[in-house]
Amino acid sequence: MTTELLNRFSKIGSRFLGVKYPIICGAMTWVSDPSLVAAVSNAGGFASLAGGNTPPKILEQQILETENLTDKPFGLNVITIAPVYRDHLALIRNLKVPYVIFAGSFPRRSEVELVKQTGAKVLCFASTKSIANRMLDYGADALILEGMEAGGHVGHVTLITLLQEVLFKVSDIPVFVAGGIGTGRMFAHMLLMGAAGVQLGTRFAVAKESNAHPSFKKAFIKARARDAVSTPQFDSRLPVVAVRALRNKSTADFGKLQLDLIGKLDRNEITREEAQKQVEEFWIGRLRDAVVDGDISFGSLMAGQSVGLVDREMSVAEIIDELIAEAETELQRVQESFVG
Ligand SMILES: Cc1cc2nc3c(=O)[nH]c(=O)nc-3n(C[C@H](O)[C@H](O)[C@H](O)COP(=O)(O)O)c2cc1C
Repeated sequence: MTTELLNRFSKIGSRFLGVKYPIICGAMTWVSDPSLVAAVSNAGGFASLAGGNTPPKILEQQILETENLTDKPFGLNVITIAPVYRDHLALIRNLKVPYVIFAGSFPRRSEVELVKQTGAKVLCFASTKSIANRMLDYGADALILEGMEAGGHVGHVTLITLLQEVLFKVSDIPVFVAGGIGTGRMFAHMLLMGAAGVQLGTRFAVAKESNAHPSFKKAFIKARARDAVSTPQFDSRLPVVAVRALRNKSTADFGKLQLDLIGKLDRNEITREEAQKQVEEFWIGRLRDAVVDGDISFGSLMAGQSVGLVDREMSVAEIIDELIAEAETELQRVQESFVG
C-alpha cells in the first residue's frame, strides 16, 4: 500500500524523531522496557524507555540492552519528581542519549539547557497552555501536548481544548499530541490539524511485546472507555496528583481514604501533614503490583480512555501497520472529498 499522503503530512515529525512514522509509544513505567521500546523502533515508530524511579545502574543497562536490540533512535523518559531524578540527569550527561523526554512535573530551565548541551533533543510534556508556553521559553525542541484522556499522570484539560489553545498557535517547533488516540483515522486528523505526530500509551501496553502481566492486559481488553477514570480530589487541604486508571477496589478505597481523612481534619484528629502523607503513600508500589504481578483488584491499572479502542493483543508491527493503513486511507478519503 502506498503511504504517499501520510509521508507528506508526517515529514516534520518523522525528520525530528529520525523515524519512518511519527508514532510515539509513550514511556510507561514498568511497561516500557527494552523489548517493547526496540520493537516499536524496529517497526518504524519511536519509543522511550521509562526512567520512572529505576536505579541509575539498571537504567544504564536497559539503555545498552535497547541499543543492542535496535539500531534505530529511541528516547529516555525521566520523571522530574522521581527521587532518582538527579541521578538520571547525571546518567544522561555521561551516556549522551539522543532524545530526552521530561515528564512528571516540568523541568527547570537550567535542566533543559543542561540536557541540550549533551546534544540530545528535548521533548517536554505540556498539559496546559501555560506549561506549553513556559517549555517553549525554556528552549524545548518539541512538545508533547497531552490531554486528560491519557493514561497515567494527567492534567485537567482535554486534548480537544489543548489543540486549540496550543497546537493551533505554535508553529516554531514540532508538537506531538497524546491522550485518547487509538486509531489511524485520528492520527490522520491530528496531522491535518498540524500535529507533528501522535503519542499512544494504552494501545501499546497491550502489545504482544509488552511484558505486562497477562491479567493486566486482559483487564484492558475487557474495559470500556468510561472505566478509565481520573482520581478525584475532594478537598484543597489534601492535594491529589491526578492519575487515570481503570476503576477497581483501590480507586474506591482511595476515595474512602480521602473522605475519612477530611473528617479527621475537620475534627482536628490528624495534622494536615500526616493526612497528606497517607494520601501520597497510598499508591506507592501499586503500578508495579498491577503490571508485574497482575494484581488487578488492588494495583494501579493506569490506562487512558483509549482503552475502549483496545479489543485484542496485537504485535507492535501489527498496531503500527494498522495505524498507518487507516491514516493513509483517511487522508485519501479527505483528498477525494475535496477533488470529487
Ligand atoms: C501504564 C501507563 C504508565 C505510564 N507511565 C508513564 C511514565 O512513566 N512517564 C510518562 O511520561 N508517561 C507515562 N504514561 C503516559 C504515556 O506515556 C502516554 O503519554 C499516554 O498513555 C497517552 O495516552 P493514551 O493512554 O490515551 O494512549 C503512562 C501511561 C500508562 C497507560
